Parts: sequence; C-alpha cells; structure tokens
Amino acid sequence: MLAVALLMLCAVSTQALDNGLGRTPPMGWMTWERFRCNTDCKNDPYNCVSEKLVKQMADRLVEDGYKDAGYEYINIDDCWSNKQRDAQGRLQSDPVRFPSGIKALADYVHSRGLKFGIYGDYGTKTCGGYPGSLNHLELDAQTFASWGVDSLKLDGCYSNVSTMKTGYPEMTKYLNATGRPILFSCSWPDYERASHIPINYTSVADNCNIWRNYDDIQDSWDSVTGIIKYYGDNQKTLVPVAGPGHFNDPDMLIIGNKGLNVNQSNAQMAMWAIFAAPLLMSNDLRNIQPVYRDILLNKEVIRINQDPAGKMGKKMLERNSTVEIWVRTLAGYEEYALLFLNKGSKPKTVNISLKELGFTFDPGFEFEDALDHGKFIGVFDTIKYYNFTVPESGVLLYNLYFSS
Ligand code: GLA
Repeated sequence: MLAVALLMLCAVSTQALDNGLGRTPPMGWMTWERFRCNTDCKNDPYNCVSEKLVKQMADRLVEDGYKDAGYEYINIDDCWSNKQRDAQGRLQSDPVRFPSGIKALADYVHSRGLKFGIYGDYGTKTCGGYPGSLNHLELDAQTFASWGVDSLKLDGCYSNVSTMKTGYPEMTKYLNATGRPILFSCSWPDYERASHIPINYTSVADNCNIWRNYDDIQDSWDSVTGIIKYYGDNQKTLVPVAGPGHFNDPDMLIIGNKGLNVNQSNAQMAMWAIFAAPLLMSNDLRNIQPVYRDILLNKEVIRINQDPAGKMGKKMLERNSTVEIWVRTLAGYEEYALLFLNKGSKPKTVNISLKELGFTFDPGFEFEDALDHGKFIGVFDTIKYYNFTVPESGVLLYNLYFSS
C-alpha cells in the first residue's frame, strides 16, 4: 500500500515541471509586440527580426542598466525559423536573418551574462506560419536544450485545443528530460479560454512557469485596460494560482513605444507589479526616451513585482466609475502595495479609509510613494478618511508598512 502510494507520488512529481525557475516573475525583453514578424532585412535591416537585432538588444540590456535592475531574458518570438525543418527533422533558423545559427546567438547572449529564450508552437504551424512542434515535441525540446535555450514560449496556433491539457504536460516532461532548466511559458489557458474549454489551473501551474490567459497586448491604452479588466473580472481564479515558480502572464510591457504616455506607462508598470506578472519588455531599447527608461527601471516598482512571496494582488473596490483600488500582500510582516488606478481621462479624487480596504492594523501604516523613489509620505490611520487624487489614465502606488 505504502509502496503504491510512494510510486504514485513519484509519478506525479516527475510529471510536474521541475526546473526551479521563475521563483519571482521573469524579467527581460522579447521581440514580438514591437518587431512582430518583420522578416524584411533587405528593405528594413534595422528593424527586421534577426540575430543582429537580438544582439543589439542584449547589449542595450547590459549597458543601459536593465540587467542590473533584474531584466535577464532576451527572447525571440515568432518568425525566427526556416520554413522547413532540416534533413534530420530538426528546426533550423532562417539562414539569411540568423546566419550564425541559434546556438551561436545563445552563446552571445550568455557571454553578456543574460539568458536566451525562444518561441515554438504546439500545433502544426506557428501563428506566423513557421513549422510547429506537433509530432516533434520531444525532438524540439532536445534541439532547444542543445542550443542552450533558457526559456521557451510554446504558442498554440493551428492545433486541436482540446488536446492541450495532455499535450502541454507532455512537453513539460520532455523539457524536464533534457536536464537543462528551461523556463516554460504556455499559451494553453488562453487558447482554452478562447475555445470555451474549462481551464484546469492546477495542472497549468504544475506544468508551466508562466502562462498567457488573455488576448495579445497591442500598442494602446485600450489594450492595457482590457487586460486589466480581464484580470479584475477573473481574479477569483487567477489570484490563487500565482506563486513562486508559476505566474499569470498578462503579456508584454509596451512602455517606450508609441501607444502609452507617461501616466499610462507608470500604470502598466505598476499594475504588472500588483499582478506579480512577468516583466518582458517589447520595445526598441536603442531609441527609448529617458522618461520611459526610468519607468522601466523604477526600483521600487520592480521590488514590489519581485516580492519573494509571489502573491498576486486583488482588486478591492471600484470608485467614481473610473477608479479601481488594488492591494498586493508582500512578504514582510504587515507590508503591502496599494494601488489606485484611474482609467478615465480626468484626474479623480477618492475619499477613503484604509479600513474600507481591509486594513485593520490599528497603529496605522507608513506610506511610501513607489513612483517617487520610495519617498516617505506619512503615517495613515486605519479609521480616518483621506483624499487620494489619482492622475488621469494613471496610478498612485504606495508601499505600506505597519507603523510601530
Ligand atoms: C500569438 C501570440 C503572440 C505572438 C504571436 C506570434 O498571437 O499570442 O504573443 O507570439 O502569436 O505570431
């Protein structure tokens, strides 16, 4: 009896993803939102998806302070591969855009002290029409490991979505078997959601380090608020499944592109910190304006995002039709992040007590302004009412500590 139970336990534990990665949300950069499937290196050599672009971004990550702030993955998304597999059936990179091959590119990224991520697809083709991994999952896991890949995003275009609940765990098994720790990013729950198939988040969290739940981010404030709405509406499901080693992924940071102004960029960064979300920028770090770079490098916001307890925050209340108030519990004793999000186009003042937001610690809380280098704001009582003026399409973000 005991032997059977032990055997079952072993069987279960070897099936789960076993790489020790993503104890806090992964941080890095990836090609997709900004560079898409631009393969036209002839007419657009500066912006096409190529080894040159990836190396340049790796250099920027290291030389402009991003690596020091915690951004460590450089990930290629779709459109890196050749349209055909090689004679042995292995994936191979496009020979024009990646003439040195993926192994050499991963070596370069590693030489800069960074990690290297790649993209594949669970179906017959990637979303961009490149070879998919269906019937090649094991070989592809081995190929990626042999190239020194540190992270894999496995998309789900051109597939039978009803098989994902077994197919993605199969890939988890193959990744484990390579012996190389490869962070596993799954699109599985997003495809199940879109196909109205119930999502087993326990299994998702067992088999994936991060996972997409919702639509692709686009370069706009509407897209960002749409994602925030989905997360708020579904928080009962999403909050319990996030934790060290397994996080919800609301998609890339688009800060530094054209779609978000400064307030909106602070809002995306702060909301992603409350979500315990991966911080994967997709922007052009070669040309980014300093104001956006500073937002991406904001130490206090990153510290909230990377809190070791890995708990996702919750929406507590909505006020004045456009304001949402979110709270994330942090690892320290009576330590929290408190966020006011104003989705509207005019500043809004909210009058509220901490008690209304669920804070009951009588001596009150010390407030620090996370968007202003952790500047001390004052001690706030839990019973008294205070005014918080939230900028238009922006946020206030505070660190709260118990006051002794
Ligand atoms: C899907 C994914 C995106 C991106 C593209 C690439 O749409 O959700 O994040 O990877 O495919 O084609």
